[in-house]
Amino acid sequence: MIILGIETSCDETAVAVTQDGRTILSDLLSSQVDLHRKYGGVVPEVACRRHIEVVGPLIRQAVEKSGKSYGELNAIAVTVGPGLVGALLVGVSIAKSLAYSLKIPLLGIHHLEGHISAAFIENPDVIFPSIALVVSGGHTNLYYMPQKGRYRLLGKTIDDAAGEILDKGARMLGYPYPGGPVIDRLAQKGDPERIPFPRPYRSSLNFDFSFSGLKTSLMHTLLKMGTAPEEYLSAHPDIAAGYQAAIVDILVEKTFNAVKYENARSVMLVGGVAANSLLRKRFISAANNLGVAMYIPSSRLCTDNGAMIAMAGKLHLEENHFASLDLNPRPNLELKNEFSFNPLTGSMSNL
Ligand code: KG4
Ligand code: ZN
Repeated sequence: MIILGIETSCDETAVAVTQDGRTILSDLLSSQVDLHRKYGGVVPEVACRRHIEVVGPLIRQAVEKSGKSYGELNAIAVTVGPGLVGALLVGVSIAKSLAYSLKIPLLGIHHLEGHISAAFIENPDVIFPSIALVVSGGHTNLYYMPQKGRYRLLGKTIDDAAGEILDKGARMLGYPYPGGPVIDRLAQKGDPERIPFPRPYRSSLNFDFSFSGLKTSLMHTLLKMGTAPEEYLSAHPDIAAGYQAAIVDILVEKTFNAVKYENARSVMLVGGVAANSLLRKRFISAANNLGVAMYIPSSRLCTDNGAMIAMAGKLHLEENHFASLDLNPRPNLELKNEFSFNPLTGSMSNL
């Protein structure tokens, strides 16, 4: 099965061609990070325009690079939501046109299902039941998965997402978007104990997360330091280390509480923030201590990419979850088991 995966939900245009989901024949990305940097965040209208400019040529290049022809494609998988409506519309429109003209199935993919599917690319035999933590710029969601393609939401952030809180923290320190990789790098040279940060919601009796208190705490830390540039800059590694350690502690504790509570046999850590080096280390050691399997995609497959969408498409194909050509973007789509093709209406539903 040769599947073309298209992802345009936010600020990355990503396209991949895969064989059976797992073998990546080509995987291209056109990032808009530089374009949005001067605004300090993603500007939806600017994002859509750039997607429109680059998605066609990127698809052509991805197909050429894969060594396959358009006629050899068996299906097209595209992110249908959640995300910026205009940005999603670009990917969905071109995917529909291609599926129609090539007369091949169209597969509508939930962005978070894409992130989770990234774990299957390198680990085809994930042990279930599993707990999946999706940590990205827009989401911090914890799922119980009894098997592939089945999701029960256990908890999510009640305010900012983990990636968002890293991006905002870095911005308060004066670094450009995206701040997650900057904090990761700075923290490696810092002492996480020197500047303490709170662990909001860490011991709450549910699986929800809360991170916004960390921002306030960082603001107070910076105010106390004043504006003496030397002291301020030299403290950045310690601030980053303390800030990052608080986020990682919360994510580890909640996730592994869920593993114990649900008697899960494995854990999946996915999404852009899963590229974080401390988070990866701490998850691996917590999983070892509990004796459960741990799956983390390689860093390149953690951030948005087309291969994860193609892999999720492969799972939809196996379950005959096809989308119809009246597929529309769903900016607020939730990931639920009912996300499936409805043969009566001929459309994909998320009831
Ligand atoms: O999954 P993703 O590429 O896009 C969304 O779906 O949001 O995630 C982007 C997020 C950003 O917040 C970025 O700062 C964060 O992932 N990120 C990291 C690292 N690399 C990317 N956060 C911490 N450490 C990293 N190494
Ligand atoms: Zn993402």
